[in-house]
Amino acid sequence: MDCVGIIGYGHMGSMLVNGFLASRVLGTDEVVVASRSQESRDACAAAWPGICIAATNGELARRCRTIIVAVRPQEMREVLREIVPVMDGDEHIVSLAAGISLQDLEGLFPGSVTRVVPTVTAAVGRGTTLVCHGRQVGMNETLRVEGLFSSIGNVVLVGEEDLPAATLLASCGPGLLAAIIEELAGATARASGLPPDRALLLATEMVAATAACLQETGEAPGDLIEQVATGGGVTEVGVQGLRERLPGVFDEVFAAMLERCDTLGK
Ligand SMILES: NC(=O)c1ccc[n+]([C@@H]2O[C@H](COP(=O)([O-])OP(=O)(O)OC[C@H]3O[C@@H](n4cnc5c(N)ncnc54)[C@H](OP(=O)(O)O)[C@@H]3O)[C@@H](O)[C@H]2O)c1
Repeated sequence: MDCVGIIGYGHMGSMLVNGFLASRVLGTDEVVVASRSQESRDACAAAWPGICIAATNGELARRCRTIIVAVRPQEMREVLREIVPVMDGDEHIVSLAAGISLQDLEGLFPGSVTRVVPTVTAAVGRGTTLVCHGRQVGMNETLRVEGLFSSIGNVVLVGEEDLPAATLLASCGPGLLAAIIEELAGATARASGLPPDRALLLATEMVAATAACLQETGEAPGDLIEQVATGGGVTEVGVQGLRERLPGVFDEVFAAMLERCDTLGK
């Protein structure tokens, strides 16, 4: 009954299973997995021999106190309608579904509910999982969930009103940054004889090193810019161009993403 259940063995569900087990915050005998397709269930059983795979979501719900639901927002209500009738009421539902509010979740399960927003970079133990607990979540449940997600990166608590914008940065951010890395590498290859794969290697390493540098020194980005962009130099030209254009581009992109956030789960 104290097992952690994970419903949905897709991108996020499989990453969580891998992360929790590889970090040893959970053992294979403490996890139960359920997923819609036999293919996903077989993939989980092959990756983690001995892990308990439930035949149905209901079977999982009967065996677990912490139930992480890692299905798409449009699939969330169906899963909750399936499991809530077989639950005792003292379980803790942890939802990954973007756009489904605590109030909506509590309307479907009148017990402890938490929203979490993990990030794909948790696959390498980095990045931030955003956590937003519902009103009924007790201290032990709080510690349990935050302990689990701390095993795969940072955990940051946020108020639900800030969750959409924080999600764009913490969870969509790796996708945005990957797109920027692509553009940096593309521009380098177009302006030189460097093959695109070598330009991509250089760009990826440069971004990782810059982030590590900022983290380790505690410097603000502006301090680092000052060190690189000497007056009248090459970097200054580039930084000026970006500072003129990027605020408008990012404001526009964020506004479009927030608008899409509003429609998720409806
Ligand atoms: N991807 C990200 O970076 C990210 C980041 C933060 C949060 N999220 C959130 O995480 C959730 C999952 O996203 P994802 O990218 O992992 O999606 P995904 O790869 O499509 O995985 C969803 C999984 O849910 C399973 N599923 C669907 N209906 C089900 C049902 N009725 N019962 C049991 N399993 C069911 C599917 O199972 P089968 O494969 O067996 O059909 C699928 O594997 C979403 O709500 C998303 O908003 C995603």
